[in-house]
Amino acid sequence: MASCSDDVILVAAIDFGTTYSGYAFSFKHEYQIDPMRIQTNNSWTSGNKHLFSHKAPTCILIAPDKTFHSFGYEAEENYSNLAFDDNHEDWFFFRTFKMKLHANMTLNRGMLVTDVYGKSMSAKTVFAMAINYLKGHMLSTLDRNHTLKDEDKENIRWVLTVPAIWNDKAKQFMREAAKEAGINNNQLLIALEPETASMYCKLLPLQKFTFSDSTREMKAFEPGTKFMVLDLGGGTVDVTIQQVRSDSTLQEIHKATGNAAGGTCVDEAFKNLLIKLVGNEVMTEFKTKYASDDLELQREFEIKKRSVTSDSGGKLSLRVPVSLVQCFQDLTKEDLKEVIEQSNYAGKLSLHQDKLQLNHSAIKGLFKHSMMDIVEHVKELLELDVCADLQIILMVGGFSECILIQDAVKKNFPNHRVIIPHQAGLAVLMGAVLFGHNPNTVASRVTKYTYGIKTFSNFREGIDPLEKKICVGDIDKCRDRFSKHVEIGETVEIDKTLDTLTYKPMSIEQEEITLAVYVTTQTNPQYTTDQGCICLGKLVVNVGKSSSDNKDRSVDVSMTFGGTELSVQARNKLTGKVTEAFFDFLEQSVISG
Ligand SMILES: Nc1ncnc2c1ncn2[C@@H]1O[C@H](COP(=O)(O)OP(=O)(O)OP(=O)(O)O)[C@@H](O)[C@H]1O
Ligand SMILES: *[C@@H]1O[C@H](CO)[C@@H](O)[C@H](O)[C@H]1NC(C)=O
Ligand SMILES: *[C@@H]1O[C@H](CO)[C@@H](O)[C@H](O)[C@H]1NC(C)=O
Ligand SMILES: *[C@@H]1O[C@H](CO)[C@@H](O)[C@H](O)[C@H]1NC(C)=O
Ligand SMILES: [Mg+2]
Repeated sequence: MASCSDDVILVAAIDFGTTYSGYAFSFKHEYQIDPMRIQTNNSWTSGNKHLFSHKAPTCILIAPDKTFHSFGYEAEENYSNLAFDDNHEDWFFFRTFKMKLHANMTLNRGMLVTDVYGKSMSAKTVFAMAINYLKGHMLSTLDRNHTLKDEDKENIRWVLTVPAIWNDKAKQFMREAAKEAGINNNQLLIALEPETASMYCKLLPLQKFTFSDSTREMKAFEPGTKFMVLDLGGGTVDVTIQQVRSDSTLQEIHKATGNAAGGTCVDEAFKNLLIKLVGNEVMTEFKTKYASDDLELQREFEIKKRSVTSDSGGKLSLRVPVSLVQCFQDLTKEDLKEVIEQSNYAGKLSLHQDKLQLNHSAIKGLFKHSMMDIVEHVKELLELDVCADLQIILMVGGFSECILIQDAVKKNFPNHRVIIPHQAGLAVLMGAVLFGHNPNTVASRVTKYTYGIKTFSNFREGIDPLEKKICVGDIDKCRDRFSKHVEIGETVEIDKTLDTLTYKPMSIEQEEITLAVYVTTQTNPQYTTDQGCICLGKLVVNVGKSSSDNKDRSVDVSMTFGGTELSVQARNKLTGKVTEAFFDFLEQSVISG
């Protein structure tokens, strides 16, 4: 677990996003004077160009020998050059790989990720290379301007952000990838994206927000106020509901929820539109033969989609590569411009030389899917009892900068105040630095799962199924009973040890108790074999030999939710020895302390 020592001289945060990543840092002495004095690198290089953005695209180029080559704009540029010279086939180019960890309950250390051409590599290695690059970039920026001493580097607190809706396995995976990238476990904090974003908004001056109403007052962060944080990223829609406590710490009052309807859904919709226009065969030919043009088209769309507004007369004009039009002609012997004019896309879409123009209906069509998913999700949440008196929706994440999405939220929830910080896409990153300086700002969370332990209990005739019956000594026991420690939706104080349950060995001979920890989304699971129950890992506790002075051999077991991780403690009642609860979400192996 991360230490919260006072020796921290610098907080260094990495926002590893699905589409964009960046880093930010601040020294403790700066933070104490002005917490918002946070530095980022706003100039990422691409070839010999400098691009002014605080984050770089999350894409990574890996050489044929599987060594790291480049990241971000540089990787895009280099890959495009390689493709232009038709030298790219042995190289690996990965993008949007963070989504591999979303809603993945079968995640394990050996997992692979596939690159744009379907070649695969170890996911852990790819994530570690990306983190290592961002870490190295940050350290060299620091070295240039501040000359850090080597011993200072041990007093850096690293913060890595993850979506709040991620499961424990995904969080642990990131922790291990960070370790592989040379970040010590005890220097690392994993922070939840919507939470760091709201910490940032809490300190941001009023004039740096857009409000849906004219009052121009914040009120969101006054004690007692409830608000919804809608973090709309490239991959995930990550929603938490928070309340400000009287000591102004934040309390999560409903479990994190969300879906995968982020900004890349719009890119996906555009890709599908193109496929509908030219057909699969032409598209595949174009992608293989003209990979650099394909990248250029994606970049063009990424830039142009940002200019979309709600103006129904608005049009979107995109430069399409000549090679795509040519591919179409070669394969179909038809003219793309004419084919569009004769299709039912006529009017909605048109092609003039190398310009593809979309009318507003066509543009809206691209955003429709994610827009609907976002609105539906918010609607469902607002119907919950806990949201009865919730009036504020705080929109953060890059996709929240999209005017169409902003307007959809405002229009669908006219009775709520919608608040959007300027540069919404940076809120998570900046907030992560604040979180690193003050990790205790979030005081409690709502669990996303029911957690329990697999036990044997006395067999209940007529209740427990017969196939669970097992005879131990001369007592009928029931196998696989789910002994519940924490229920889904329960509020747990961070770092506070929860209620203890006591377990005994089954027989006199038994000297060890194996505690298998299970999770499920059910509220009242009966057996660990119920559908949806998943074993997170095991903890083995020694209870000693049975003897006259060691009759009551038992262990007290309790769970503690740390900042973002769960730990399980088992205390031998006789000796008082606490088994070190190193917990492993990624491998179902037996670990003992
Ligand atoms: N003005 C805009 N209009 C439309 N889409 C936008 C706009 N600005 C940013 N986006 C989209 O928002 C996404 C980037 O948001 P952000 O940087 O918060 O995501 P991320 O951190 O990479 O992803 P995640 O948080 O899901 O891992 C991209 O899909 C980008 O295309
Ligand atoms: C950002 O990083 C680049 C190296 O890629 C460096 O040249 C530049 O000085 C850095 N900018 C800041 C503001 O630190
Ligand atoms: C990557 O780009 C840099 C600078 O643009 C260039 O010097 C280098 O040769 C490129 N590498 C590859 C493999 O294309
Ligand atoms: C877009 O074009 C379609 C087809 O011609 C038409 O029905 C629709 O009204 C147009 N929409 C806008 C907003 O111009
Ligand atoms: Mg993000």
